[in-house]
Amino acid sequence: MTDVLVLNGPNLGRLGTREPDVYGALDAPTLAATIATWGSELGLAVEVRQTDDEATLVGWLHAAVDARQDVVLNPAAFTHYSYALRDAVAQVTRDGLRLVEVHLTNPASRERFRHTSVVAGVATGTIAGFGADSYRLALQALAGRPPA
Ligand code: DQA
Repeated sequence: MTDVLVLNGPNLGRLGTREPDVYGALDAPTLAATIATWGSELGLAVEVRQTDDEATLVGWLHAAVDARQDVVLNPAAFTHYSYALRDAVAQVTRDGLRLVEVHLTNPASRERFRHTSVVAGVATGTIAGFGADSYRLALQALAGRPPA
């Protein structure tokens, strides 16, 4: 049984080749395997998924509510404008589950359009700017507490 769903949004499947000066050299499969290892070290069964599709991401969040799973979400560019995603995240956290918004970079220190997160206000919390370690810190935040 999966304890925590780690969901990655658009373009994060291109990690490794996508702007490595910004996002680092780690590719997406290696990041996914690393996150799963961090999860098991923390006693969490973690499943990592990535999609470029907003509807798929919304569907996965609905399924997390139904399966009572906490979520680590990197909404990528959807962070900045997807009210559909925000509304889906609100269903997770309003239902007593926890959702940590993560970013590899610190959007607040980048272009102006990245300064707005429409997700942050309904997330349990946000971790940004620590590269791949943002995911480890998010899993640490979720570990050791019983699901609501
Ligand atoms: C990102 C930051 C977003 O602004 C950007 O659109 C991404 C990645 C990050 O992890 O730093 O795709 O979410």
